[in-house]
Formats: sequence, C-alpha cells, structure tokens
Amino acid sequence: MTSQTKPASPVLEIIEAELPAGTVLHLWLKARAAGGEAKLFVTVNRKDIADPSTRRAEEFEFLAVTLATGGRTVLAYDADTTVLSVVYAFHPQRVLDEGICVLHHDTRTAPPEVPESYHFRPPFGWMNDPNGFGRFKGRGHLFYQHYPHGLRWNTMHWGHAVSEDLIRWTHLPLFLFPADHLSEKDDGRGGAFSGSAIPVSGLEGDEIRVFYTEHVRDRDPEEQIQLSAVSRDGIVAGSSEVVLPLRPEGMNLTTDFRDPYVFKGPDGRWKMLLGSRDRSGGVVLLYETADRQGAADWTFLGIIHREDRFGMTAAECPCMVPLGGKADDPATRWALIFGLLTSRDPATGRRNLTSVTVGRFDGRTFKAEFEQELDFGSDAYAFQAFVDGDEPVGIAWLANWTDFSKKDDFPTAMTLPRRVLLEGDAVLTPPVAAAESLRDTLLDETALVAGETVSLGNGAVEIVLSLSAPGAAFDLAFDHPDAKLGVRLDGDGLAIVFDADTGKAPPRYLASGAKPAELRIFLDAGSIEVFADNGRWTGTKRIPGFSAARSATLTGAAASAKIWQLKL
Ligand code: FRU
Repeated sequence: MTSQTKPASPVLEIIEAELPAGTVLHLWLKARAAGGEAKLFVTVNRKDIADPSTRRAEEFEFLAVTLATGGRTVLAYDADTTVLSVVYAFHPQRVLDEGICVLHHDTRTAPPEVPESYHFRPPFGWMNDPNGFGRFKGRGHLFYQHYPHGLRWNTMHWGHAVSEDLIRWTHLPLFLFPADHLSEKDDGRGGAFSGSAIPVSGLEGDEIRVFYTEHVRDRDPEEQIQLSAVSRDGIVAGSSEVVLPLRPEGMNLTTDFRDPYVFKGPDGRWKMLLGSRDRSGGVVLLYETADRQGAADWTFLGIIHREDRFGMTAAECPCMVPLGGKADDPATRWALIFGLLTSRDPATGRRNLTSVTVGRFDGRTFKAEFEQELDFGSDAYAFQAFVDGDEPVGIAWLANWTDFSKKDDFPTAMTLPRRVLLEGDAVLTPPVAAAESLRDTLLDETALVAGETVSLGNGAVEIVLSLSAPGAAFDLAFDHPDAKLGVRLDGDGLAIVFDADTGKAPPRYLASGAKPAELRIFLDAGSIEVFADNGRWTGTKRIPGFSAARSATLTGAAASAKIWQLKL
C-alpha cells in the first residue's frame, strides 16, 4: 500500500506567453471547493503584476488584467484550490485585425480538433444563434449566443468575431456578459439572449448599437425584457439600458417576448421585430422609433404576422430584409423569416421549422403574398440576415433544438453565409460568392460521374452536380463512419439521406416535389449543406461528431460532377 502525503508547497500549474505592453487578459476562475479561494498569480518578467482571486465555487467569475509593461508573462495557480476555465489575451488597438489569443481552456470547453473544417465555430465553449450579424466600418461582425465554460447551453453571453468576406473569421473578446446575479451559478437561469445590431453615428463616427433580450427565469412581471448597449470601438459594449421593460398590454401574450431584430424601415425609421405567442399561436410584434440613435421612444405598432401551423408555440428570432430592391422603394418586397418553435411537420417528422414569408411592408403593416420553407434540412435555425451593400446576407445556427440534450455535449457550427434573393415566386438562399474562394484543388471531374467510388480526401469538399435534365433522379451516397448519409432526387423530391442509427426512425429531410438541375453540396466535419438551383432548395443537416465522409458514389443521371477540396 502507498500513502499519499500532500506536498508542503503547492504544485503550480503554469501558463507562459510573451505578451506586449497594453495586453488585456480575460480570465474566468472559481474555487475548487465551497469555502475555498481561487487565485491566479500573474507576473511579467518575474515581477508580480496582479493576483486576481474569487471565493465563488459554483460558477466561474470573470476577471480582467491589463499588462502595463510587456514581456515574459507567467500565469500560475494551484490546481488543488483553483479552477481556471478560459484565459485569452488581446491588444485592444490591434484585436480587430489580430484577434484574441487563447492561452488556456480546460478540456470541458475545448473546441474540436478539426483543422480542415471551414465552418465558423467558437474558440471555446457552447454556441447557438447568430446575433447582431452586420457590417460596421466595412467589417462583417458576427455575435452569437455563447456559454464559455462548457459545451452545453447555459447562462448566455454574446461571443464575437469579425470578417471581411464572412467566411474567414477572427475571434474577438466576449461582447455581452450576463447580469452579475445570473453569473453566480451555472444553473442556466437566463442571460443575454438573442438580438441584433445596427450602425449609429456617434461622436467618433460609426458605432454599433446592439439590442438583446435579457432573460431571467421566473422574474416578475417579465421574464424577458429588451436591452440595448452601444460599442464605440466595435469591441467593448458600453453599459446596457432597458428599452422595453414590458410586453404590450391587453394582448394575452405568453411570457415569450424576445429576440429584438432592428432594421431600417421603408420610411427611414428604425423598426424592431420581436417573437412571441398569444392564444392563437406564434406572433411577430412590430415596434418603431423616430430616434435616430435607436436608444429610446420605442412604440408598439401591432402584430404584423401570425403563424400557428405544425403545433408551433412561439415565433422566435424574427428577421426582415428587403429583396432585390431598396428598402424605401414601394415596389420592393420584403422577406420575413422566423423560427416556429416546437413545430413538427407530420409529413416528414422534421421539427422547429423556419419559414420565410414574402410580402409588402409599408413600415407599419406587412401584407403576406406567399410563404416557403427556408431550409428542408431544418438545421439552419435562428437565421439572421442584414443588407450587406445592396443585397441581404444571412447566416444560421447549424443545429436544431430537437437534437439537443442537456446531458451530452453538443458542439455546433454556423451555416455558410447565404444570399437572400427573390426569383419569381421563390426565395433563393445560395451561398455567398466568397464561398467559391474555398475551392482549393479539383479532386475529380471524371470518376464520380462515371459511377466510380471517389475518395473525398480530408472530407472538406464541395460537390457540383449538373443533372441531365431538371428533376432527373440520382442517388449520391457517402461513406461516413457515423451515419448513413447521402443526397437523393426522385419522384418525391430532393432529400438529404441521414440516419445516425439511434434506434429511432429519423425524420425525412425532404424538399417535396423539388426538380432541380444543378446542385452544390458542401460536406464538412459535422455537417452537410445542399444548395439546389442556386439555393431555390436549400437543405442543411448537422452530423453528430466530427468524422468526415470518406468517399462518394453516384448513381443516376448526372451530366457532370466535380469535387473540390476546400480550404479556408
Ligand atoms: C433560439 C433561442 C432564442 C433565444 C436564444 C437563447 O434558438 O431560443 O429565442 O433568444 O435561443 O439562447
């Protein structure tokens, strides 16, 4: 038998980095045991700089340290008393170009090791909806629902990243933090829920104003209220103010009152959409303000849209963009997009569908003309779009709450960004043009079309298929280690074949009656996206795990087939 004696002096865990003067460290600590204290010792060139500490033991506490001088920086802590979740470093003047440098994340927050993957993922922790998607001072910004300390949904923060082309992203410091009283425990009682961002002019030029829902479970009288904050530098959010403390009265709305989406209406005023529910189903609420800063005077105009199909409860994450014309042109039609929470399509078994309704919008009322499903794979949830230059571009969470389990880690990605176009009586959502810049090498243009089985290299590929005629049947089967996976076109329509063999029959991911002639199929670790006829039928499916498809075999009537190896 061996006996263990505790060493007299603690064994310190050490993190070292060479960091310049002015570096800011963001870190999260908690005590290993209740009643104990967590402490981190920060030295630069062997000089003590700071020793942030906390007595919190239930949830990590956020702490920031600024390095006045640069040099060899050492972070040391006693792992017997202290748990460190994440540490990243950044230089405020350069972070928009350089991004953050993650110095530490514990195993529970680590991102998957998928270096070939080309979809956006957080640098650590959990992610769901895209928020505040927009372009500010020429840079694309993506905020997202985030929990830094695990790979399961919990108290919501906003993560943040920037990009020129919306494909290659640079991670920034966390942007919104939950209220202090929500941060004390990891019981997922709420936080900074989904929202949007607009450019407003400030003293030093364009600033970013964000709107979001603060959710506090069981708060009376409102679980969900709307807050707003301004960022002058595009990196740090100023303090949040309440802009809508109460739901509209006398409408019999449930406590659902969330996901403020603010956009410029045809009359030049800021409009805000919110998702909710009343006794007859999901509703989209419209507010407006004449305040050019969007800071105050938000007035309720009414319910602009109702939806109660498929057993849905609340409308979530509404978003509205002008299609193919300027917002102030009365001829322009608008797309209203939102999630149908808890919906289930009885024909296919798919859940939490997303619908896009096209109609006329005069700033106060929305006259629907036709409706269509946004994504037949239904793993493009919480879609959010903004007008990028003269065309709307959107992105979605590449997952669906149906598959989510509180008991298992559930790493996710964002979809490829997509254009939103109107063609006749159809909305098209093809990938943005910059997605073509991912094409690295042409793996094949003869073997797949000849019916041979073709290796997909590292599995990060785009397959471009031209069919011999619109609707010509084909079956493209992938060899994937974890799931039956493929794309099939037949008399029923276009389908993503997906069965992870869980013992339960999977839904049918089917665009009923689709008869496309051209397809672009994107495969990556953890996902498949199908864009048929320039996104007339778009289907997105998350694949659990991170294995890549190994090979593809095509049967049926293709005129040509190309396989591109993709690379960020
Ligand atoms: C949609 C959603 C939003 C909410 C957010 C919370 O996926 O439920 O309605 O704001 O997620 O993370």
